[in-house]
Amino acid sequence: MSRVMAPPIGAIGVGHDRLDGREKVTGAACYAADTPVERLAHGVFVAATIPRGRILRIDLALADAAPGVLRIFTHENMPRLRPAPSPPAGQSLMPLQSDRVAYEGQPIALVVAATLEQAQHAASLIAAEYERQPSSVDFRSRLDRAAEASSFFESDTHLGNVDAALAGAPLRLAQRYRTADRHHSPLEPSATLARWENGMLTLDDATQYVWGVRLVVAEALGIPAERVRVRSSYAGGGFGCKGYVWPHQVLAAAAARELDRPLKVVLTRAQTFTSHGYQTASEQFVEIGAQRDGRLLALRNTSVNPTSQFDAYLEYCAIGSRTMYAVPAIETKHRVVHVDRGTPTPMRAPHDGVAMVGLEIAMDELAYAAGVDPLELRLRNYAERDPSTGKPFSSKELRACYRLAAERFGWGRRDPRPGSMRARRQRMGWGMASALMGTFRFPATARVTIEGDGRVLVEAGTQEIGTGVRTIIPQIAADVLGVPVERVRIALGDTTLPETGGTFGSSTTMSVGSAVADAAAKAAAKLTELGSSGPGDYAATLAAAGLTHLSADGAWQPEENGDWSMHTFGAVFAEVRVDEDLPVPRVSRVVGAYSAGRIINPKTARSQIQGGMVWGIGQALLEESPMDPVLGRYLSKNLAGYLVPASADVPELEVLFAEAFDPHASPLGAKGIGELGAVGVGPAIANAVFHATGIRLRDLPIRTEMLLG
Ligand code: MOS
Repeated sequence: MSRVMAPPIGAIGVGHDRLDGREKVTGAACYAADTPVERLAHGVFVAATIPRGRILRIDLALADAAPGVLRIFTHENMPRLRPAPSPPAGQSLMPLQSDRVAYEGQPIALVVAATLEQAQHAASLIAAEYERQPSSVDFRSRLDRAAEASSFFESDTHLGNVDAALAGAPLRLAQRYRTADRHHSPLEPSATLARWENGMLTLDDATQYVWGVRLVVAEALGIPAERVRVRSSYAGGGFGCKGYVWPHQVLAAAAARELDRPLKVVLTRAQTFTSHGYQTASEQFVEIGAQRDGRLLALRNTSVNPTSQFDAYLEYCAIGSRTMYAVPAIETKHRVVHVDRGTPTPMRAPHDGVAMVGLEIAMDELAYAAGVDPLELRLRNYAERDPSTGKPFSSKELRACYRLAAERFGWGRRDPRPGSMRARRQRMGWGMASALMGTFRFPATARVTIEGDGRVLVEAGTQEIGTGVRTIIPQIAADVLGVPVERVRIALGDTTLPETGGTFGSSTTMSVGSAVADAAAKAAAKLTELGSSGPGDYAATLAAAGLTHLSADGAWQPEENGDWSMHTFGAVFAEVRVDEDLPVPRVSRVVGAYSAGRIINPKTARSQIQGGMVWGIGQALLEESPMDPVLGRYLSKNLAGYLVPASADVPELEVLFAEAFDPHASPLGAKGIGELGAVGVGPAIANAVFHATGIRLRDLPIRTEMLLG
């Protein structure tokens, strides 16, 4: 049969349905907390109710006597944990190690019982007495204490003489922009199931990075990494909150060892607000100097974000200003304010997604000040090279994006006057913004096996968090080997498989995909050596050689970005409707066009971008985690008070791609798209609201009361 089959050229570029779709919708897919294990005990956290102070006493008497309780761990009996590198540890503060309380929600006890209900009940009986110390969770009132910090990128950059260029600029703008604290809120909360057998720890974990979990847990427990196996077959979203490693994973492993019994810890929805990081709020101070025609002369962007008392997490909220536009003088600066909260963490789209809010609303303001169309303003300032480094872009089809999206949207029919466009009793606003996202690549390895029946097994330890990995990775192998995608399956999410990086930074297609392509090419070469003339005879070739299967290992080691400035880009156009009487802003249309290299699967790629756009709608209009300044806690640790876009908030989202093979980003020509869609939508909506109402809002999310009166 297979001999007559025509080689299915081009599995890459075909919009295949998700190969794991059926497993997911039928409930067959096994998520971490679903893992069936005998004698499983259940752990429930008790969390600190104050943001800063000391635990004086924890009364365990009632809980100890409650039915089913196996053990209660506090700082008084939890074994000492060693510090682990951060990242991949999400925070440096190890749990249950002292009487110090450094944020509300910090675990102060872990109750383990035979059933979940027994553990929950016993946890409810635990009361702690604290010595409360003066605290502050409000970074905006403490900007004078902004401190230096450093992490992935430089915190400060300087190009040209910004002061002089600003002084000589005919048009000047200086404004402050704000974004809110936000939480990831994946459908599946973080969950860990830990069990020990013969000194070997297995963790079934909802994680974006099985090797990160292995490293941190092994370090914390003081055991060799080889004695820890971490698996993650499926994860119900992550968006960054499962990228690093948080207290529940370490505690589950440590407590299971103490009890010599398998233990499961699942965060409650409320605990997802405090038991892992969040996206920080930001204050972005943007100064622009321009010619009368809108050409930029100077750009200064200073950003401040809150962080915990014990870690200096930087959200690079000025980073987009380094690269987006051709400006001769650019200064960017990042600072943190330490407050009594947990440590923040990346969230889709980290850094750029927040950074482009201030810059892109500022560009809209400049467009009105200069009397230039907002799209034309972007084109006048188009960067042919990265202005900060002078390096060429590895690929950039942003001009095509602007054109494609503007045409599809109908931007040419826009009346620029605010309040001039209407749809029935509603004001209609059209706004646009550019999108920019950094390109992150990690080393990866993979194995490809041709099985005796000609089917193909791809093995790579990478995680599937909902992005489409179980489909696009088989497509890549199928493309190289010339076999139908349906004959390729993938084993992933396991530290016993070939090592890859984390499923973050929109990196998986480039990194894991390139390693898989390498392994597949090596497997094909071995088959050719055995006399194969193509995919039609793989099974026969193995049989003739007396082989049950044939495997090849592949790897990809990205070089430093070196001579190239590597980013993905987009152009986003949004339409909003604002009712005359009750001005609730509603998004009615979004069109985005994207430059992200070669697209491996247009269907899953579109889904990724649409998902990101939904995050942008949340950023613009809904998502915010306000804190009570006195109690130092989040006001709403639930999805009734923390609003995410529901279906009725999401209109038609049109996604276009301006494809280009980017040979510098990866041998596949692909770049990343997991986070790009979440960039630019927020400011495009804010700009559309200005166009609809004439009210300039620089503080996201936009709330109805801001548009009253
Ligand atoms: Mo993404 S915030 O890099 O998981």
